[in-house]
Amino acid sequence: MLRVKQVECPFFYGNLGGTAVIFRPLCRLRDGFFACIKDYLYNPKVLLRKKRQEQLLLFTQERGIIAMEMKDRLQELANRAKRLIEEAESPEKLNDARVAFLGKKGELTAMLKSLRDVAPEDRPAVGQLVNETRERIEAMMEDSRKNFEKKLLEQKLKTEVIDVTLPAKKSRIGHRHPNSIALEEVERIFIGMGYEVVEGPEVEYADYNFTKLNIPEDHPARDEQDTFFINDKILLRSQTSPVQARTMEKGILPIRMIAPGRVFRSDEVDATHSPSFHQIEGLVIDKHITFADLKGTLEEFARELFGPETKTKFRPHHFPFTEPSAEVDVSCFKCGGKGCRFCKGSGWIEILGCGTVHPNVLRMCGIDPEEYTGFAFGVGLERIALLKYEIDDMRLLYENDARFLKQF
Ligand code: DAH
Repeated sequence: MLRVKQVECPFFYGNLGGTAVIFRPLCRLRDGFFACIKDYLYNPKVLLRKKRQEQLLLFTQERGIIAMEMKDRLQELANRAKRLIEEAESPEKLNDARVAFLGKKGELTAMLKSLRDVAPEDRPAVGQLVNETRERIEAMMEDSRKNFEKKLLEQKLKTEVIDVTLPAKKSRIGHRHPNSIALEEVERIFIGMGYEVVEGPEVEYADYNFTKLNIPEDHPARDEQDTFFINDKILLRSQTSPVQARTMEKGILPIRMIAPGRVFRSDEVDATHSPSFHQIEGLVIDKHITFADLKGTLEEFARELFGPETKTKFRPHHFPFTEPSAEVDVSCFKCGGKGCRFCKGSGWIEILGCGTVHPNVLRMCGIDPEEYTGFAFGVGLERIALLKYEIDDMRLLYENDARFLKQF
């Protein structure tokens, strides 16, 4: 009769360490050790019959059995690893195998931990064996990995055709926008005349955009159709003229400034309109400034910008913040004033609005109109860029197509 009993066993097989079900009479060893090996654990009866003699021989040294078992197990593990590596049909599967055997929680690592159960005198040899097994598995994995790489490359070479005779792609550097080029030109001209370049906010108080510029509450220019209001008091500035008021309010006189910047109007996009465009404001305040100074300044500006032959014409106009006001035309730089397609046959091209600063504006901005006078002007930047570079559609300026931009 076979008696099977569960006992504390210092030996183990695989991950069964700790306790094992063993057949006592067969496996009782000296000093109360019990031995168990795989076949025996799994099927004591079979073991008893077939392997009795063999096993008895093996069991003669208590902890030596573990060393021997470790050898068997390492061999078995290496065989299994080899099989898995050979069968892996993808790098992912190969990686799974790596994790299963060599990973932190992998089988080989577990084996390394179980070295403590091996007799101290056997540990170096068994330890070395574990390392050798690791190296063997690693080498097999490396071979397999290289194999996968090679196959992948072959596959790529087969499917991807590279024409080495094609010219290389040129790396292109950016290009300044026509607006920027035109603005720098305008700035250069005015800085040359002693002007300062200042900036103002794009989100502005209605007070600065309108009231302080002598545009009272009921003025049609306040119509919401024209302007993007944020609330009753705040809007996206519809002109750069509020920078005039902001500069005057600072009270530092005299003033000689230009203020370029973005402005907004509730306009539909077409060849000559955009809801967002740019203006350059100009303002001069000093003692004894007259309309003659304005004329001289803008004539010089036009000659610098469009060529020394350029003539200017001041047409009376109305702006609430200047009195008198004018619009300025320049002689067509294409036909010299004879009339062409560019100037629509008139020989003149309108470029800006201007005038002497209204005394109301000076007063509202804290300047005594009896002591100081001044002039102001406003130029559309896009208008200058379109004219200078003979561009016939404003939309081209906003599309940022590199093929278009690089022409200027
Ligand atoms: N702000 C005006 C506009 O947007 C342009 C302008 C006209 C500005 C006359 C001025 C000026 O400073 O004096 O149409």
